[in-house]
Amino acid sequence: MSEQENKKVIFSGIQPTGTFTLGNYIGAVSHWGKLQDEYNCIYSIVDMHAITVRQDPVKLRQHTLEAYALIMACGVDPKKSIAFIQSHVRTHAELNWILACSTQFGELSRMTQFKDKSAKHPDDVNAGLFTYPVLMAADILAYKADLVPVGVDQKQHLELARNVAQRFNSKYGELFTVPEPYIPKVGAKVMSLQDPEKKMSKSDENPNACIYILDEPDVIIRKFKRAVTDSDSEVRYAEDKPGISNLMSIYSVVTGKDYASIEREFEGKGYGDFKLAVGEAVSDHLKPVRDEFARLMADKAYLKECYTNGAQAALNISRKTVAKAYRKVGFVDSM
Ligand code: TYM
Repeated sequence: MSEQENKKVIFSGIQPTGTFTLGNYIGAVSHWGKLQDEYNCIYSIVDMHAITVRQDPVKLRQHTLEAYALIMACGVDPKKSIAFIQSHVRTHAELNWILACSTQFGELSRMTQFKDKSAKHPDDVNAGLFTYPVLMAADILAYKADLVPVGVDQKQHLELARNVAQRFNSKYGELFTVPEPYIPKVGAKVMSLQDPEKKMSKSDENPNACIYILDEPDVIIRKFKRAVTDSDSEVRYAEDKPGISNLMSIYSVVTGKDYASIEREFEGKGYGDFKLAVGEAVSDHLKPVRDEFARLMADKAYLKECYTNGAQAALNISRKTVAKAYRKVGFVDSM
């Protein structure tokens, strides 16, 4: 990544909690590679966030490597962007503490994701789960990111990061850039295929609700064929047709067609034809990702070289911000 140019900074992250869903891909990761030429991009596999929910350590290690290979397979080029594993860069935990002391209990209590996750895991409502958005703010603010490409579900966390940055700046003097969300117009909230009122999520118990980007073509097509729609038969984008509208937005993203031309394409045809076409288009679109992922996973030495260099580059930037934050709050210089 060339820092000398006056490009804006982008930061984003994804949790290594299993293969990415089509929601992760369409809402966030598919954009990451496309932004690399125009911006200074920094992308992280946020393993520290993942342990706010109980994880099997063996699986977490495996999923972290896979997630790193997957963001590359989806287009992140570690020669153009900085791509690293969060726990490799100590500044995230350091800044997390500083920012936690500028975050209010009340604002964390209002986070809907905390409420949802604590309801889902009532036996493990740990402090990390509660302060999760502070670590996310540290991720972003450590690099003075201008823009954060995410799906709609992360908007509230981003709002909190903005408030924390502004509060710190007004308490201690200007340091952090106040980041803006970068949310795609289509596909910012991909819905479950089985309940189109609900977000598509890895943790859905119904295996047909969610497409994983490494699913085999026949599995993808089968899941789309079973997608819940409505009793009508017209392929039309409308608020009262959430199932069809969700499929149309997916089809639009993977084919580049707009809603009007999709409606024309399926005029007079039934939902069966449409669902099959969406399944095939998604499967074709993801084929290069599956192939590249397999290639990268077979070359662990190369992956290691990439994430080691990425961590070094990330540390070089973020330690300057953290050193300034330490000075601003009044810590004595250590060297
Ligand atoms: P995570 O790992 O849950 O999801 C990664 C990205 O995928 C998006 N996403 C979706 N987009 C559209 N439709 C869906 N159904 C869908 N499901 C997930 C998410 O919005 C996200 O952009 N807290 C973050 C990770 C994180 C982060 C950061 C992101 C940690 N630090 C700093 C940005 C900046 C998370 O849990 O994402």
